[in-house]
This record gives sequence, C-alpha cells and structure tokens, in this order.
Amino acid sequence: MIRVLFVTSEVYPVIKTGGLADVSASLPEALCQQDQDVHILLPGYPAAMAAAKSNGSVRKAQLRIGVHPVTLWQTQLPGSPVMLWLVDCAPLFDRPGNPYQNEEGSDWWDNAHRYYLFARVAAMMGLGQAGLNWIPDVVHCNDWQTGLVPVLMNSGHKRPATVFTIHNLSYQGLFSHETFRALGLPDSLWRFDKLEFHGQLSFIKGGLVFSDHLTTVSPGYADEILSPQLGCGLDGLLRHREHVLTGILNGIDTHQWNPESDPYLDHHYDVDHLVDKRQCRMDLQHQVKLEANSEAPLLGFIGRFVEQKGIDLLLSVLPDFLDKGCQCVILGSGLQEYEQAALELAKQYPRSLSVTLGYDEALAHRITAGADLFVMPSRYEPCGLNQMYSLRYGTLPIVHRVGGLRDSVFDSQNVPVKQANGFAFDRPEPLALQAAIERALDCLGRPKYRQQLQRKGMTGDYSWQVRAEEYIAIYRQILSDRQSIIQN
Ligand code: ADP
Ligand code: GLC
Repeated sequence: MIRVLFVTSEVYPVIKTGGLADVSASLPEALCQQDQDVHILLPGYPAAMAAAKSNGSVRKAQLRIGVHPVTLWQTQLPGSPVMLWLVDCAPLFDRPGNPYQNEEGSDWWDNAHRYYLFARVAAMMGLGQAGLNWIPDVVHCNDWQTGLVPVLMNSGHKRPATVFTIHNLSYQGLFSHETFRALGLPDSLWRFDKLEFHGQLSFIKGGLVFSDHLTTVSPGYADEILSPQLGCGLDGLLRHREHVLTGILNGIDTHQWNPESDPYLDHHYDVDHLVDKRQCRMDLQHQVKLEANSEAPLLGFIGRFVEQKGIDLLLSVLPDFLDKGCQCVILGSGLQEYEQAALELAKQYPRSLSVTLGYDEALAHRITAGADLFVMPSRYEPCGLNQMYSLRYGTLPIVHRVGGLRDSVFDSQNVPVKQANGFAFDRPEPLALQAAIERALDCLGRPKYRQQLQRKGMTGDYSWQVRAEEYIAIYRQILSDRQSIIQN
C-alpha cells in the first residue's frame, strides 16, 4: 500500500471552480479503492471548514509558519472514504469569493503568500515535520498552486517521491521578483532553469523542474505542450523533461454521472431505453423556459466563459441555427464581454436560447441529459470532462479535435464508423464549427445512425479503473527510483 498525499487547491463537493475539483475527488477515491492510502490536502477555505465541522473533524497539529499560526484539521471528504486534511490559517484562507479571486473577480493580492504557506505545510507533512504519525511515500501535486511543494522538499535526503500533474499549463502562477524576495526563497532558485521565467517568479516551474515525474490529463495534451503552439513558453523545459512526462486521460465519477440514477433528474434512462431521454429534454425546456417543442434539435454548452472554451465561436454561429429552428441552453460565467454577448443573443431569441450565468450543478446535469448535442469548441483542452459526461448520457458531443477531446470523441471522418461516438472538427474557427454542427443535425435526422453513435458513447469506459492503475504504476516506479538513490 502506497501512502499518497494528494495536494490540491480545490476538491468536489467542498469547493469547485472547474474540472480540477472533480478529478481531485474522483482520482483519490479510485486509488483508495485500489488499496492505496490516499489523503487529500486542501486550504481551509470557509466552505472547507464548514464541511469539516458538519462532517466531524479532529485538530491534529498546530504549526507556525512565518507570522502565521496554522492548524491542521483531519476530516473526511463528504460522501467519500478519502481522508481530507485542511490547512486552517484564517487570515489567508477565511475569505469570501472563490479560492483565487475576490467577489469582484480580481485575483487576491497575496495569492503567492497564500499558496506558498499551503506548500510549506504540504512539504512539512511530506518530510515528516508536521508532528503527525502519517507520513506519505508520494506527494502528488496539482497545478501551479502546488508548484512550490517539490521545491521545498527538494533538499530533504529522505524526502518522498513527487508527482506533478498539469491540468492547465496556461495558468502558471506568475509573480514579481519582489514577491520572490518577500517569500524568502533563496537566490539560488532565481535562475532560468529553476523558478525564474522571463523576469518573473513562476510557481508552475517549481513543479515542472523539481518533481520526479510529471503527468498531464490526456495523451493528446502531453504531445501538444511539447510544441511552441500550446507549450505556453514552457515547451523547451517540457521537452527537456519529456522522458518523465506521461499523459493519462482523466476518468469521471461514473456514480455521480449516471443517467440511470442521477438524483438531479426527474426521469432516468439507459442505453436500451433512450426514448426516456426525451422526457429529460422536455423537463429542461420547461425549466429554462424554452418553447416546449419536441422536434427542435437542442444544443447544450456548459463551461467557463474564457477564450480557452471557444464560447465566442459558438455565439458567432448560433444565430444561424436558431433561425433554422434549433434551440440552445448555455450555462456558465466568466469574461464580461462574453456574458454580455450571450445575454444579448438570448434577448433576441427568448423562445429558443436560454443563457444562465453562474454556477449550477443541478442544471449542469439536466443540460447534459436533456440536450441532443453538446458543443465544446475549446481552442485547447487539456482533458475536458463535459464531453465524457455527454457521451455517457447519450448526448452527442461536437468538439474541436484537440487535447483530451481528441482522445475521447471520435468522428467517422477520422475513424471507422463503428468506432465513432460524436463529431469533431479540426480548426477552431466558426466555419469549421458550423460544418460540424450541420453534420450533427443531419445525424439527428437519421435515427439508426444516431442510436449507433449514442450506443458507442454510452457503453464506453470513462471510469478511473484502468487510469488509476497507470498512476499507481508511476508511483511504484518513482518510489523504486528514489529507493536506489537513497541506497547509493
Ligand atoms: P475546466 O476545468 O477547464 O473548466 P472541465 O471540462 O475539466 O473544464 O471541467 C469543468 C467542470 O465544471 C465540469 O464538471 C462542468 O460540468 C463544471 N462546470 C463548469 N461550469 C459550470 C457551471 N456554470 N455550473 C455548473 N457546473 C459547471
Ligand atoms: C483543467 C483543464 C481541463 C481538465 C481539468 C481537469 O481545468 O482545463 O481540460 O479537464 O483541468 O484535469
């Protein structure tokens, strides 16, 4: 049994801004099911502290980091057997807003200090300096917020093995040189091959340079980040470390996302009773106040309104399809210009376009079940979870063939028809998206073909089973590598 400390800045259902939270819950759970001893470490945000109180928690250690007293609480991830540790430091984490930003949507001014302190605690746990009797063999870090953890453990002779998972390379945690100094990091780290990145402190480089192994969330993205186009300026470093970089496609929580039992749905269905999916469509039309029309093809979109997700591409082609009698339900939030554009379009098409701004877990499930087609025109997508949720719900995905989307959605234009489960296009441009939607609409008019694609999607394996085994194989490998280093 390997003891793993899984360090993350968000975890479902406690706190979530994106797919990182989903993976931070479902991967550790899958690893525990495969007999590994995985504990999650999370900052003590208000939602996390509240969950801990209602779930029962134990104060395990009192630490002092710089001027800050820190309490380590141990609890359990709600609805899961996985152990959850919380870094309780009220001045840094007891704040409204989301983990990274205030209520106005600006980054917290002291994010570097907040995630530095978080990393210090993780490193102390990793090195057995936190006064606990549980010491991990492996510390598994995720995204820039945890990038300093491997740096801070690097000098420990008996340090644990380290893995760093890239969920999104374009968020790098960049701060000024002044901040680097304020954190008290040694000058020796201010180098182009360590933490310095074009005159700034880069948290993510800490993870990329100092971890024993790197993973990212799909084989497709693992390839793409080695190139200047999607390498975000770090492709050179990643090519240098290519021998320890592995792409593993994310799994999903197949209990949470199951059309046969989804508690957010009023009606359920499975691959042999697809007619009942129509009922979900009517429920959705009713809920978001679209015309109750059983013929109109219904498109869905859920996601952050940022350039990555290509919401602008969808909005640019949508009027044409709404004019032709399609309907569309959009859920998400983000950049004001995209929110504004979406709302304006909805005003022009009140009976056929619904836009909900904000975060709504229940509506996300109901769109996934109720839509006929699910659109993901992402410019880049490290993995993407929504296309896998859609496949499982018999909702045909239309995706840009990039990153994890190209590893999970297969179009008959690229694979034998029998393997196809959706629609994919090659360039993130309106015309290409438009053509793909047209092909998907054509398919809706051919019930047998549609069912064939749905069946392929709904019977696919999106679970963590095999994918968790790949992580375990990596843990084993780096542990044995470290063992031989320590022995020599
Ligand atoms: P990313 O992490 O880049 O945002 P993913 O596809 O990996 O993209 O994961 C996004 C997750 O967040 C999915 O579970 C999706 O359903 C969920 N999600 C995104 N926006 C919303 C929203 N507005 N309301 C509810 N769930 C959302
Ligand atoms: C990131 C990526 C997304 C991925 C998620 C979970 O937020 O943008 O593609 O699915 O992390 O790994």
